[in-house]
Amino acid sequence: MTPSFTVMDLKQANCVPLPQNSAAGLAFLREAARTFRTTGAVAPSSRRLAERLAAPLAPTCRPRRPAAVLEVGAGTGPVTRVLAGAVGPADRLDVVEINPRFVEILDGALRTDPALSAAADRIRLIPESITDLRIDHGYDVIVSCLPFTNFDPEEVRAILDRYLSVLVPGGHLTFFAYLGTHATRSLLSGRRETARHREVTCLLHDFTRRHSGRASVVWRNLPPARVWHLRAPRPAARICGFAEKSDIAAGGGRPDQVYLPAPDRMRD
Ligand SMILES: C[S@@+](CC[C@H](N)C(=O)[O-])C[C@H]1O[C@@H](n2cnc3c(N)ncnc32)[C@H](O)[C@@H]1O
Repeated sequence: MTPSFTVMDLKQANCVPLPQNSAAGLAFLREAARTFRTTGAVAPSSRRLAERLAAPLAPTCRPRRPAAVLEVGAGTGPVTRVLAGAVGPADRLDVVEINPRFVEILDGALRTDPALSAAADRIRLIPESITDLRIDHGYDVIVSCLPFTNFDPEEVRAILDRYLSVLVPGGHLTFFAYLGTHATRSLLSGRRETARHREVTCLLHDFTRRHSGRASVVWRNLPPARVWHLRAPRPAARICGFAEKSDIAAGGGRPDQVYLPAPDRMRD
């Protein structure tokens, strides 16, 4: 099977356009000032980034059976809205968010925002840290919006390993990191902070490479972001020792959008 999803596929899915919600933008900015380590950005994700992250739910790619989807770090919900538009009636979407103020916004939006309320019966809002969450079933798709480059390398490694451990065989993981943050850190932070940031960036690249993942850049986002996509190996592939090859074959994305950066381009 060679599922090849594109952003267009997702646009053709039942996606409701994101509202230009300035209140959400302001709330996000406020939280960025208050809790930058966990918020990790100054603006919610663009629709383009949200669509790229949600691409594994495109009709050409999604599992044929009901899908279990996990979004981690929902913020004010731009990715949640795209996911809500893409989940089918029998799918389930678990949304994990650590910040109680974002949880409050999301909770209200589940009732009042048509993009979310239409799928509210399939969405479970979990006001917790992903690191504390007990997970007792597998997920077909995990979309992680965590600001990994603000975290310690050990924390990032533990979270990524956890994601892989709860993905069903062949399940999809997407996550992202902003471009240009390394240069900013080098200018504004001390040596230790710059080294931590570099270590996390290398870790993200290595993790993706090890699991035969792919990367693409979304320029229409503030700031632009690199999105990674990888799949959990299927058991047969693992037994044959072909996990990497089969996963390369199964990876998504248009050839012109997808590449693995060369080591000298791995700064962020
Ligand atoms: C970069 S923002 C992304 C928000 C939103 N998904 C978007 O794309 O605009 C990161 C989000 O992850 C949340 N977050 C950070 N650490 C978390 C954790 N350990 N567990 C769950 N959510 C977390 C933050 O509160 C924030 O909402």
